[in-house]
Amino acid sequence: MSNKYENSNSQTKPSDVECEACNDTGGIIDKVYDEDYGREVDIYRPCHCQKTKSLKNRFKNALIPDEFKEARFDNYEQNSEAQKTLYKAIQEYLKGFPSIIKDKPEHNSLGFIAVFGESRIRLLSGEAKYKAKSEHNNFGLGKTHLQMAAAKWILNRIRVRDEIAPGQFSRFDRGARVLCVSDITFMDDLTNARMAGDGGETLRNLLDSAINADVLVWDDLGKAKWSESKEGLYYQIINERYLHKRPILFSSNEDAGTLSDKIGYAASSRLLGMCGDRLYRVEGEDYRLRKGSH
Ligand SMILES: Nc1ncnc2c1ncn2[C@@H]1O[C@H](COP(=O)(O)OP(=O)(O)O)[C@@H](O)[C@H]1O
Ligand SMILES: [Mg+2]
Ligand SMILES: [Zn+2]
Repeated sequence: MSNKYENSNSQTKPSDVECEACNDTGGIIDKVYDEDYGREVDIYRPCHCQKTKSLKNRFKNALIPDEFKEARFDNYEQNSEAQKTLYKAIQEYLKGFPSIIKDKPEHNSLGFIAVFGESRIRLLSGEAKYKAKSEHNNFGLGKTHLQMAAAKWILNRIRVRDEIAPGQFSRFDRGARVLCVSDITFMDDLTNARMAGDGGETLRNLLDSAINADVLVWDDLGKAKWSESKEGLYYQIINERYLHKRPILFSSNEDAGTLSDKIGYAASSRLLGMCGDRLYRVEGEDYRLRKGSH
């Protein structure tokens, strides 16, 4: 009996509180003297523990695929021209990234695409197809590796101030929210959500998360099989992000022409416009087939 009593009592001991600064409420009230009122007023500020908690949550919510948890800039090899181009492109992009988040320029996105698109190769046959495949490989260049390394870099360093009224920004900054999606799975999820029979709530939530994330990382864009309804979904997401100047980091096995066949001209022209000159056409050897890897 007495044991039970001690156990339940210990629940309220301060040592059971994870953060003693705020008693796990997440906020701290400071008493500050206000000149206008001529008295002390309560000022709320978020506790430091919220940053750690928020970082963990943001990593979780970013949905970085497990197989890319170890993908970093320091373990990306730069031997071929394609690898050097991709690495340099992403480094330069990230150098300017704080200003992309803050100043919301028109050109805010980054794209890695093919020189000779996957669906263009698929149209060929026999010798021509074999030749195009070997001369214009776009797989295993490390596009996804670098995108995921960038996602982590952004999660760890970029802070965002929300605009609470036109031209007026919050006093507090928060960590950037990143969402990584892979084209086939994501378009499947959207398509299934459309048929969920819940009045469109699941679909709305999925769309909102893709539209509102501070940064959207879109892997293998245009890989899903084309359909008219998918074309509508691509447009909805890309157009909303285009209007709000929210960056998209994408990679695709299509080229600029075939990408527009797969996601629609309206969506692709906006997306390519968002990249400005940060659209990189790359091809080269598949990292997984390199010499000495077996
Ligand atoms: N230059 C590189 N250095 C180290 N690992 C690499 C490099 N390029 C690719 N990889 C690894 O090879 C695999 C395939 O790369 P991935 O990023 O999926 O290529 P892509 O998206 O261009 O098809 C991944 O496990 C990735 O981490
Ligand atoms: Mg990839
Ligand atoms: Zn705290």
